[in-house]
Amino acid sequence: MLNDKITAVILAAGQGTRMKSSHPKVLHQILGRPMIAYLLDTLINLGIEDILVVVGYQAEKVQEALKDYPVRFVVQEPQLGTGHAVQVAMVAVPPEAGDVLVLCGDAPLISRESINALHQMHKNHQAAVTIQTVVLPDGLHYGRVVRDDAGRVTAVLQSKDSVDRPEILAIREINTGAYCFDTPFLRDALDRIPKSPVTGEIYLTDLIHIAREQGRAVEALIDQNLEDLLGINSRAELAAATQTVKRKINARHMDQGVTLVDPETNYIESLVTIGRDTVIYPNVYIQGRTVIGENCVIEASVKIVDSTLENDVHVKMGCVVTQSRLGAGVDIGPFAHLRPLSDLRQGVHVGNFVEVKKSVLHEGVKAGHLTYLGDAEVGAGTNVGAGTITCNYDGVKKHQTIIEEGAFIGSNTALVAPVTIGAGAYVGAGSTITKDVPPGKLGISRARQVNLERRLIGKKKEE
Ligand code: UD1
Ligand code: MG
Repeated sequence: MLNDKITAVILAAGQGTRMKSSHPKVLHQILGRPMIAYLLDTLINLGIEDILVVVGYQAEKVQEALKDYPVRFVVQEPQLGTGHAVQVAMVAVPPEAGDVLVLCGDAPLISRESINALHQMHKNHQAAVTIQTVVLPDGLHYGRVVRDDAGRVTAVLQSKDSVDRPEILAIREINTGAYCFDTPFLRDALDRIPKSPVTGEIYLTDLIHIAREQGRAVEALIDQNLEDLLGINSRAELAAATQTVKRKINARHMDQGVTLVDPETNYIESLVTIGRDTVIYPNVYIQGRTVIGENCVIEASVKIVDSTLENDVHVKMGCVVTQSRLGAGVDIGPFAHLRPLSDLRQGVHVGNFVEVKKSVLHEGVKAGHLTYLGDAEVGAGTNVGAGTITCNYDGVKKHQTIIEEGAFIGSNTALVAPVTIGAGAYVGAGSTITKDVPPGKLGISRARQVNLERRLIGKKKEE
């Protein structure tokens, strides 16, 4: 746990030009959540109570997306560089603040351990600034960490500003964009940063050589966790970050006793919980606040969103389940579609090409084939025949279908709502039911079959 006097400043005002997007970069999603949310969670988990988010490009959108987080916002307008962003934020840093931790909203996967290690090093050396670095095979577009002959950090130079300096571009130790600052040093030095002659921006990284000029200690912590620390500046880097998060989440579930047959192909969002001995086949997406019980089987190519599955549920291939509840022992699919507010109680069986919406299917209901149940309440033990359709919409309003316990709905039936089928009633196959069927009766509405003599048209067929 970090000392609670720390103020964290998250830089999130930039547009993210390289994303080629009309959305602010920090709102681009990694497994269903804005990338910056991962960083905020980590800081909150660390017990950091004062979090300042610097917003600018589409500030309102970013503030709206983060409105449930206990953070303060500072607006940087216009955006003149990372150093300028911290200048603007400094006004909101309390006078009694301990160290200031600066992090980038576009490098959101930094771990608690990495932040702790950075702060620990900073305190141990009483440094003016401590930066976090990683060593890459190629420094790419990142800021290069320049060290003197004694190995002490003297500056961080941007690659854009170093195109004519191959010796700088050859450096493989790069700045990740995470820093700890001594607050009095930061307050004083921020005003001394010149504009870059190349881009005109005010770079936060200039504080490193400013500290050295003042004879203050500058430390750099080389962190080994490359994939957590690299920034997200392009769609390719966003995809790489998604893979990193996916692998971590999947590893956690496997550790806790869930079988993922081919984890590379499972996209399980961070808030999902899964019980032990559940088996998940390839190409499965589990999203939002989904809760899955023990001993379930989720077959291939399934998408489950914001739903609850109790124990022993079997979701067969190709199903889509949204905002629904599946009781113990339910089995659905292949190719079933549970739309919002489907409530399938214990032991319900929903088969292939069945769509359910805003309906309760009580214990043991069977709807095996090619059916639509919308705005319906289906009593326990009812058998819904193939091709049953609840006609719930009259073009203006939705209406309810009520099927009481133990009913039997023959195949290819249209139930024109509002309508009630009484307990234990039967509906003859092929009926269009527009009136209630009382309990225990047989409702049937179709033309009576007649069998006629065949009439041969034209000449009699030759023998
Ligand atoms: C920055 C660092 C670079 C480092 C890299 C790590 C500087 C000058 N460069 O480069 O050394 O290797 O991060 O990923 O600091 N931002 C603002 N206001 C601004 C400009 C940027 O809030 O005026 C925010 C952005 O939203 C982003 C972060 O600061 O979250 C970093 O900005 P970005 O433009 O991505 O800098 P890089 O070129 O990646
Ligand atoms: Mg960046």
